Amino acid sequence: MSGLFITFEGGEGSGKSTQIKLVKTWLEETFPGREILVTREPGGTPEAELIRNILVTGAAEKLSVEAEALLMIASRTEHVQKVIIPALQRGAMVLSDRFSDSTLVYQGLAHDLPVEELIAIHEFGFDDLQPDITFLLDVPAELGLQRAEHRQYAQKNPKSEAESRFEEKGIAFHQRVRAGFLALADRYPGRVIVIDASQSPEHSDKQVKAHLAARLPDRP
Ligand code: TMP
Repeated sequence: MSGLFITFEGGEGSGKSTQIKLVKTWLEETFPGREILVTREPGGTPEAELIRNILVTGAAEKLSVEAEALLMIASRTEHVQKVIIPALQRGAMVLSDRFSDSTLVYQGLAHDLPVEELIAIHEFGFDDLQPDITFLLDVPAELGLQRAEHRQYAQKNPKSEAESRFEEKGIAFHQRVRAGFLALADRYPGRVIVIDASQSPEHSDKQVKAHLAARLPDRP
């Protein structure tokens, strides 16, 4: 596959969507004519977005952790097969807001499901697709949750307000999420780049672009 697959990971309020927008604009300017596809998980296809709705709305306790993990991986399988692989085969640069690492961390390390079994279920769904680069936007859980709450309040957006199921899992859970992502960065040091996202969006953007500028060729 001739494309490039970049994922953005992190806890709540880590600023992934802002960074993705900034990177998209920069890639479009740096590689004119190259297809840049922005997508997200859970979601990314009409059916996967339906599964997203089940996952991110309602009471925190409404699903068993096992069912939650299987739904995440089911939606990812649709997304990979129908959107990500075809785009990479076309030569696109794909920017995904979350991917498999989120399941290994949220359902695995933070909710105590066995990570190796989760990896095996992913392999059943779509063999072994790994991102080329993963930016982990690292922020203390307290700060991230404050930002996420503030964002929902500021947007006054009933849809995003309804998408707060994971935020309601509590601070201890989100502390485990942060530690889990950092453990994953240790496990995959060549792929996962840790970005200090505790300061301004501009500060995160500088770190992300410095890494991309060093890593990507000047021209496609
Ligand atoms: P978002 O807020 O980044 O759109 O993601 C929605 C929520 O879903 C977020 O709280 C993290 C959670 N999530 C998982 O628990 N496991 C996963 O595999 C994915 C993709 C997301």
